[in-house]
Amino acid sequence: MIISVASPRHGNGQTITAVNMSAVISDLIESEVIVVDTNKTCLDLEYYLSRSTVTKGLDNFYSLYRSGFLSRATFKTCVKRITDNIDIMSSNLCSEIEPEDIDVLIEYLQNFYKVIIIDTSGFYNGISKSLINKSDNIVALLPQTKNVIMQFIDNNPYQGYKDKLSVVINKYMNDYEGKKLSYTEQEIKKDLKELGYENPFFLEYDIDLKNECDSNAALNYALGNINKKRPYMEHLTDLCECLLSSSGIGFTKREKSQNVIDRVKGYLSLMQDNRRVGFNDK
Ligand SMILES: Nc1ncnc2c1ncn2[C@@H]1O[C@H](COP(=O)(O)OP(=O)(O)O)[C@@H](O)[C@H]1O
Ligand SMILES: [Mg+2]
Repeated sequence: MIISVASPRHGNGQTITAVNMSAVISDLIESEVIVVDTNKTCLDLEYYLSRSTVTKGLDNFYSLYRSGFLSRATFKTCVKRITDNIDIMSSNLCSEIEPEDIDVLIEYLQNFYKVIIIDTSGFYNGISKSLINKSDNIVALLPQTKNVIMQFIDNNPYQGYKDKLSVVINKYMNDYEGKKLSYTEQEIKKDLKELGYENPFFLEYDIDLKNECDSNAALNYALGNINKKRPYMEHLTDLCECLLSSSGIGFTKREKSQNVIDRVKGYLSLMQDNRRVGFNDK
């Protein structure tokens, strides 16, 4: 299964979400997951997760492939191991990966990984767009900001992808220093519903979600048992379980409250109607 994490702008948490999803999913499926960075202007995946500046990624893939040396054995030199179950591929900096190379890339990735997560860099970047097209699921991150959500709906960058879209409001806050925020969950749901999107996911603002370079802080947050009960992690796990269920990938079930079970069931019945959480064919 290929999951693309996308957002209409930077700073909404694409990389952190991709990293945390890799931790949650590798845990749930007890198997290796890879995160592929396609954002050559930021390289934040490398910064957040890598202790060394030695890069392994799409440039290595490109040169092996173009020189005829790509094989199952050499492909492994294009990925960097971060934990027992998480590998990363850094973005291409020198080479332009052509859309026709993408099929080969995907074939190799799927050979080694059941789940492939793409940290995308928008629809205007060739490789990112090709990977989004080939994805089974797109996780679209939005902030809790009315005009951004309205703009997102107006511009509709995900038109054509509605059957694979899950809308996620990231860094959601119910209240701040005791005061309720004006754009509430209820209002967001109402606005999105009117515009054709139903049942968005909400990922809470979590003050402990840090992204310091070189310390793996980003990943350790999601891997640490201590954080598993935090609302952010609970809801991220719900999202990951829904995505895995939609692709028929088995996973170890955690103890869940009834409303989570109902939600996953609801999601599955939506899937049977060929509709996704976060979208309503209006
Ligand atoms: N749910 C969240 N709660 C708190 N901070 C978050 C959350 N999601 C992301 N962040 C923070 O927001 C900042 C931007 O995240 P990042 O993943 O780098 O964004 P992007 O890749 O979209 O540019 C980082 O400092 C990250 O730690
Ligand atoms: Mg990023």
